[in-house]
Amino acid sequence: MALDTLIEARGVAKTYQSKDGPVESLKPLDFSIREGEFVSVVGPSGCGKSTLLKMVAGLLPISAGTLTLAGKPITGPQKDVGIVFQSAVLLAWRSIEDNILLQAEIRRLPKAAARERARALMQMAGLAGFENKYPWQLSGGMQQRASICRALLHDPSVLLMDEPFGALDAMTREKMNLELQRIWSASKKTVLLITHSIPEAIFLSDRVIVMSERPGSIAAIYDIDLPRPRPLDVMGTERFAAYARTLRAHFFAQGQLDAH
Ligand SMILES: Nc1ncnc2c1ncn2[C@@H]1O[C@H](COP(=O)(O)OP(=O)(O)OP(=O)(O)O)[C@@H](O)[C@H]1O
Ligand SMILES: [Mg+2]
Repeated sequence: MALDTLIEARGVAKTYQSKDGPVESLKPLDFSIREGEFVSVVGPSGCGKSTLLKMVAGLLPISAGTLTLAGKPITGPQKDVGIVFQSAVLLAWRSIEDNILLQAEIRRLPKAAARERARALMQMAGLAGFENKYPWQLSGGMQQRASICRALLHDPSVLLMDEPFGALDAMTREKMNLELQRIWSASKKTVLLITHSIPEAIFLSDRVIVMSERPGSIAAIYDIDLPRPRPLDVMGTERFAAYARTLRAHFFAQGQLDAH
């Protein structure tokens, strides 16, 4: 294992045992993610992206292979990881601030400092003034931003995100992409992001893992060699377009148009 490798998968596979028999979700995968790296995963619906993320989070056991975080096998929920799920998963009876503070309660973090950090994160995510509102009083995009704040509250070194911006309008999504780039470069977090958006994957990532149809396997891994920090106009450049064409070709070759 290279010194700066943080997450390493060797022959990691997943077969779900359902009542109708085994469902092969992921074929053996090999990849490694370096400390501080931003890696995205793109692939057709049902190819096992969420499955992969849940295994890295330690929420789901692997069926074969070895999966390590900082050299230690991942055998259960990981402390130093923040997770943003595909839906916001906020508790309806708690205010937005209290939903974010749930992270601190579970981890028994000092209250006053956690509240201060929650407020700073809400400010960053454009949620200032909504601290005492309930989830049902917020738009879907705002709820998802609150769930990102919750994932960041304990300042984890690894951030796992499952299609976190899928429910946002295009303009808010671009704003969140910029914010995420800023947070990532300021905090040197290691990010694994699942997205259906090829431009989002290219814009944010050091490397993009392309997965093939179910049962998922890695079709290709691309280095995105664009200078940082990346302004939004980088999306209009020829180099960006070339990356987008290369990535899209995978999905057209599979007869899939899942990526938009
Ligand atoms: N608990 C489960 N039991 C049995 N099969 C499952 C279970 N969870 C997922 N699967 C199967 O594993 C496959 C991968 O599911 P997963 O949720 O990882 O896909 P995904 O790539 O995240 O898709 P999407 O882009 O639609 O979110 C699916 O085909 C699904 O049928
Ligand atoms: Mg999924």
